[in-house]
Amino acid sequence: MDTWEALINECNQCRECALWETRNNVVFGDGNREAEIFLVGEGPGANEDKQGLPFVGRAGKLLDDMLAMIGLNRTNVYIANMVKCRPPQNRDPLNVEQNACIGYLQRQLDLVQPKILVCLGRIAALRFISPKFRITKEHGQWYDVNGMRTMALYHPSALLRDPSHRPETFDDLKELQREIQKICTHTVLAEPGT
Ligand code: URA
Ligand code: SF4
Repeated sequence: MDTWEALINECNQCRECALWETRNNVVFGDGNREAEIFLVGEGPGANEDKQGLPFVGRAGKLLDDMLAMIGLNRTNVYIANMVKCRPPQNRDPLNVEQNACIGYLQRQLDLVQPKILVCLGRIAALRFISPKFRITKEHGQWYDVNGMRTMALYHPSALLRDPSHRPETFDDLKELQREIQKICTHTVLAEPGT
């Protein structure tokens, strides 16, 4: 049986792709291991690499605000990335890097067994939803992926660069909230403004 401890140890020692050479910290993932909602980003940025935690920079602050809009926070979701080590200059993780790393993410998903998977941005959506995924057309739509209700949101970094997609993202978040209320059994959503 897989355990969190074994998985974390393997990740911390991992040299399966070239990203290990430039990392300061492996960003394993964080949040509630019993969460019904699992969020997948792209890869660590500079702040994440320094602190060893996902989404702790500017995009992370926006992600916290997005979650708060529908009563979620870091205690009722789990958050990880497609790759656990920072791609230089925050470039997109290469396919070889994703292929080397995805097994760890799959093991995290197997341990958490979420009901809902949220792809943050196109990189995660290309992998989990479809290799032809178009974020501009298909954000906010539901797909069934390995027994998980799955949707993609615009990546918080994309929303920082281009705020014009924020209203659509708000609608997508409300859709996510509806699905949580429909299928989650132990996720307690906070009231707005609390
Ligand atoms: N962007 C990501 O995709 N992941 C992080 O952890 C931080 C920024
Ligand atoms: Fe290993 Fe993933 Fe880091 Fe590559 S990105 S070295 S596969 S943990």
